[in-house]
Amino acid sequence: MERIQSALAKARSARDRKLQPSGAGGKASPGSNPWQDLSEVALDPKVLARNLVVTHQPGARAANFDVMRTNLLRTLRTNGWTRVAITSPTPGCGKSTVALNLAFSLARLTDKQVLLVELDLRHPSLVEMLGMSPDQNFIESLGEGRLDYGQIRRVGPNLALALNSRSVASPAELLSAPRTADLIDEVEARLRPDVILFDMSPMLVSDDALAYLDQVDCALMVVAAEETTAAEIEKCGADLGKRTQVLGVVLNKCRYMEEDDTRVYPE
Ligand SMILES: Nc1ncnc2c1ncn2[C@@H]1O[C@H](COP(=O)(O)OP(=O)(O)OP(=O)(O)O)[C@@H](O)[C@H]1O
Ligand SMILES: [Mg+2]
Repeated sequence: MERIQSALAKARSARDRKLQPSGAGGKASPGSNPWQDLSEVALDPKVLARNLVVTHQPGARAANFDVMRTNLLRTLRTNGWTRVAITSPTPGCGKSTVALNLAFSLARLTDKQVLLVELDLRHPSLVEMLGMSPDQNFIESLGEGRLDYGQIRRVGPNLALALNSRSVASPAELLSAPRTADLIDEVEARLRPDVILFDMSPMLVSDDALAYLDQVDCALMVVAAEETTAAEIEKCGADLGKRTQVLGVVLNKCRYMEEDDTRVYPE
């Protein structure tokens, strides 16, 4: 565990150096606001609701994600971290649903800016879940060794989305390429989000997520109630734990909730 922590600290400090004003990273000129330059999209609340994205507005349905957000922010702040991978043992546990809800919940905080990067490159789904036009391909420019900020969309002042409409043939190769890491560092240096969420592939079906884990500070494991087995959780946790800090397990798709689990906020 100490080795992981020291490797993470080293990676983090290398990234921090790039975040320094003198570092590389395509910095915005003084006084300009690179978030304003991102093209803004409006999303249809009906499409969001249909896809179980419930946190763009405050309320009882957002409450559990808001608690997750607060705990996450505390851990990130305590450790000086920004990058969170969201993965699961197997497909379909709800990674993308959790990633979107966490992103919108974080972005409702007026002083936090969030970048959501879709790195599940075999099964990109966020464009469809958000009802956006199918012309987003952030990863394509990365594959060509360049950044295209035109492919990063903004929703409101605090949420930036780097999404993909098409899958990629060899995700692990692209995700493990040093150039990909450098380009994501460059995006972070330019936009300086408080949190970067990465919607990743499932861990136990390919090495795609593993290929990028060295670039994140920590990971959340999403599991599906009544679907994910204890053995899958154990294997996934062990694999994740070798490469990054596991923040915790999100139990998704619970059919039965205790009365107390439904938190109600004053609207
Ligand atoms: N809490 C939930 N309750 C009911 N259904 C859910 C819940 N979360 C997600 N789902 C549904 O489960 C399916 C898979 O969700 P999602 O796409 O978020 O999972 P994923 O882990 O990202 O999948 P993939 O591995 O294919 O990318 C979707 O149909 C989604 O609507
Ligand atoms: Mg997904």
